[in-house]
Amino acid sequence: MDYQVLMDKAKEVSKFAYAPYSHFAVGACVVGESGNIYTGCNFENSSFGLTICAERNAIGTAIANGEKNIQAIAIYSPNSQDCSPCGACRQVISEFCGPEGIDVITLTSEGLKIRNLNEILPERFRL
Ligand code: THU
Repeated sequence: MDYQVLMDKAKEVSKFAYAPYSHFAVGACVVGESGNIYTGCNFENSSFGLTICAERNAIGTAIANGEKNIQAIAIYSPNSQDCSPCGACRQVISEFCGPEGIDVITLTSEGLKIRNLNEILPERFRL
């Protein structure tokens, strides 16, 4: 999978972010086991705690399309370089990949940055 394609899709979907409270838009793109890709953006709520992150939105769409495992995830924000997934999203990513983890792709001024989930969520909880 071309990670630049995933990042381009994450950027595209970040335009649809519903973030009237934080004004912080995020887009995410995951590739499933099938090779298909799924996108999601964050959407906030006036009851702030109900906010859904872009990563979880993209993963939910993948699951709703029959995916059980994801192979990689790209995350983009027009508001910040190197927009890294929050702790809750790291745990949700963990649920849908094996012990070897998956690549988590962000964008820095130097270009794409690729880290394994196990690097950014060490000793992660799994049943
Ligand atoms: N957000 C995401 O979409 N993904 C993350 O990993 C971190 C935060 C969103 C949630 C909220 O709408 C905004 O960014 C500011 O926290």
